[in-house]
Amino acid sequence: MPQAETERPGAPVLDVRDLQVFFPTDEGVVRAVDGVTFTVRAGETLAIVGESGSGKSVTGMSIMRLVERGGARIAGGHIRLTRAGAEAIDLTRLPEREMNRVRGGDVAMVFQDPMSSLNPVFPIGDQIGESLRIHRGLSRSAAREAAIALLTQMGIADPAQRVDAYPHQLSGGMRQRVMIAIALACDPVLLIADEPTTALDVTVQAQIVQLLRELQRARAMAMIFITHDLHLVGDIADRLAVMYAGQVVEEGPVAQVLQHPAHPYTKALLSCIPRGGNGRGARMQPIPGSMPSALNLPVGCRFQSRCPYAVARCGEAPVPLEAVSGERAARCIRWPEILQ
Ligand SMILES: Nc1ncnc2c1ncn2[C@@H]1O[C@H](COP(=O)(O)OP(=O)(O)O)[C@@H](O)[C@H]1O
Ligand SMILES: [Mg+2]
Repeated sequence: MPQAETERPGAPVLDVRDLQVFFPTDEGVVRAVDGVTFTVRAGETLAIVGESGSGKSVTGMSIMRLVERGGARIAGGHIRLTRAGAEAIDLTRLPEREMNRVRGGDVAMVFQDPMSSLNPVFPIGDQIGESLRIHRGLSRSAAREAAIALLTQMGIADPAQRVDAYPHQLSGGMRQRVMIAIALACDPVLLIADEPTTALDVTVQAQIVQLLRELQRARAMAMIFITHDLHLVGDIADRLAVMYAGQVVEEGPVAQVLQHPAHPYTKALLSCIPRGGNGRGARMQPIPGSMPSALNLPVGCRFQSRCPYAVARCGEAPVPLEAVSGERAARCIRWPEILQ
């Protein structure tokens, strides 16, 4: 196999195919994720973008197999993880005991709110070292040394003092750096960052995005960066998957998708970005209309009620995710007209 160069992504690390994740509720079955397909390669960042409720977090939590605890069922598809020198494993079928080894070891996740993920009663060094003691069998003192080294890599000043600090003694940005240190402690092949900067102010947000990008490159790690903020994706991602109502509606190299979208939803998202001036960090303006409920989805295209390109045929049958080129796919019957 050819060696991956730093500029070119390597072998597929994660392959998600036709993933379906449903929540049975009193009102009916919530089809939270209902047709998610993408691949992430070593050394590559995939951004997943979409409005609130489109299924981004449920997708991330499914890869970590944390959705079952929330009452969901993985109803279809597969999530194939390939580690160096090992055969691919389908995480949807992995017994919980083996999944425990994957979680926090091979695959790690960073969430939006670091305060709710950190334990207030333990020093941060203990929390960073914990997974090293569990997954790698490190002694207390070796785990502490490793925690100091990780804090240094996270750009935290005075790491030898800070290692004994409690979460409340740190700023929001610093706490998110600690969460990233915890996630990276066991050298995961895949990091999933779910809106990791949403709770932070704009300056700190940019620093965390930069840090994640540097760490991802230095470690040739695969990363999934989940965001509702289309501003961020050009800086951080190699590829972009756009989600709408539980499905990937468009996927491809980030610059191509942003410059020449093939799906009307991507086009609408892009036209909502305030141009010029100080648009960076601004929230996406909502597209007129609303996303259909995951309890009651239309038969055909899920975007049809808001789509300026909709024709009768869009409502007749489910629209497949179709190859637009060797590297791109879109879920729209009119993509050749959209992609100009
Ligand atoms: N525990 C749950 N029970 C029922 N529905 C849920 C649950 N968690 C998420 N959902 C539904 O799944 C869909 C996708 O949610 P989510 O992945 O959190 O969206 P996003 O992260 O894109 O904002 C939404 O319709 C949401 O209401
Ligand atoms: Mg979310």
